[in-house]
Amino acid sequence: MENKKRDAIAILGCGVVGSATARILTQDIDFLKTRTNLNFFLKYIIDVNFAYAKKLNLSDSLFTDNLDAVLVDPEVLVVVELVGGTTFAKEAAIKILNAGKNLVTANKALLAKYGTELFSIARKNNVSISFEASCGGGIPIVRAIYDGLLANKQDALYGILNGTCNYILTEMCSNGVSYENALKEAQEKGLAEADPTLDVSGMDSAHKLAILSSIAFGMQIDTGSIAVSGIDNLDIFDINSGKELGYIIKLIAMARLVDGKLSLKVAPSFISKEHPLAWVAGSFNAISIYSHTLGHSMYYGRGAGGSPTASAVAADIINVFLGTSERFFSLPIWPDKTKPASLLPQGEEKGRYYLRINAKDQPGVLSKIASVFADYEISISSVIQKEMPEESTKSHVPIVIITYAAKEENMHKAITKIDTFDIVKEKTVCINIMDEHEEIFNV
Ligand code: HSE
Repeated sequence: MENKKRDAIAILGCGVVGSATARILTQDIDFLKTRTNLNFFLKYIIDVNFAYAKKLNLSDSLFTDNLDAVLVDPEVLVVVELVGGTTFAKEAAIKILNAGKNLVTANKALLAKYGTELFSIARKNNVSISFEASCGGGIPIVRAIYDGLLANKQDALYGILNGTCNYILTEMCSNGVSYENALKEAQEKGLAEADPTLDVSGMDSAHKLAILSSIAFGMQIDTGSIAVSGIDNLDIFDINSGKELGYIIKLIAMARLVDGKLSLKVAPSFISKEHPLAWVAGSFNAISIYSHTLGHSMYYGRGAGGSPTASAVAADIINVFLGTSERFFSLPIWPDKTKPASLLPQGEEKGRYYLRINAKDQPGVLSKIASVFADYEISISSVIQKEMPEESTKSHVPIVIITYAAKEENMHKAITKIDTFDIVKEKTVCINIMDEHEEIFNV
């Protein structure tokens, strides 16, 4: 029997990222061949709706809705899963791997939830899984961790990992755009997930944090063990009062080792205007990694959108043809080869906080609040209560408090107590203040 060449690619799912990938693999194909000295070509686009792809004037012969037929084609070496979600995508990923095809995917939810299982299926079938586009859009962050930083133990990772949230916060903070309008704009730009709740609730960042920290720290990470809060409940009052104090609000995904235990969190956080992540604006993402030999390194680029994400997908495809994916896949750092993470219990993390307490404007209020903080060993760094105009009829005023580093659990207990006081109206707002991480050269 003739030994058929395995030089074909199939794309499953042709939305924003799928069609941008198809564009690279067709319009830029001569450039890619010259640059890699390889021969490969796009053979199939599998979907039921080809609206995006048809805008590229691609040949109709590429389009099919039959994944099973593609999987029995011996010419196909790589199948790119870009359907998103975790139901059909999981079924399809298992079929792809069991058919002996290498899988390239941008699906962070899928990998965060079923990574260990899928990696083990891939290994049984002697194929690889590549997922550069799943985290940080076009930024080659996955490759940086498993390749460029291979000689380093990692101490901490801080990321702005969601383009939609960063776009919304930048628009609200710098341009005074409302949350609703900024979200709408992000959707129109093709940044947001099909269900934008995943973006704004912080879950998309949590999926990405689980993936990145699993390879950075060499541990299996369960997304459920990450403390997650999103940007959907932020009040413009707090964004502005943080700004007056010299802080910028960002949705930060954080993983760091504390006494050998991993602390994981996704939360809107105030960072100083001087912080390395402070100038990351719009749909850009950035990841700061603190390593024991290199020290601090930072990776910056477009974190969402069709073309940037397709750049990472195309690099993964080419690496399968180059044989580098297979080589790195043999390292014992992937979730099917590592052990569950040893985690710092939630609440044990220490940090500084911004609080806004809405309290009655009357004598004794501040001392009552301060005594609760004293009970929970929380030290106050500054208190700001704006003077009310004489004609104001409001009985409650916002008191903004900045604390020194305190245990998270104590902070939550103190707030719970304060919120029971009848002098306090509405739930107290509590936002992390994230200081720049210290480099530790553990050599
Ligand atoms: N919705 C995601 C974001 C797309 O906004 O970052 C990239 O994963």
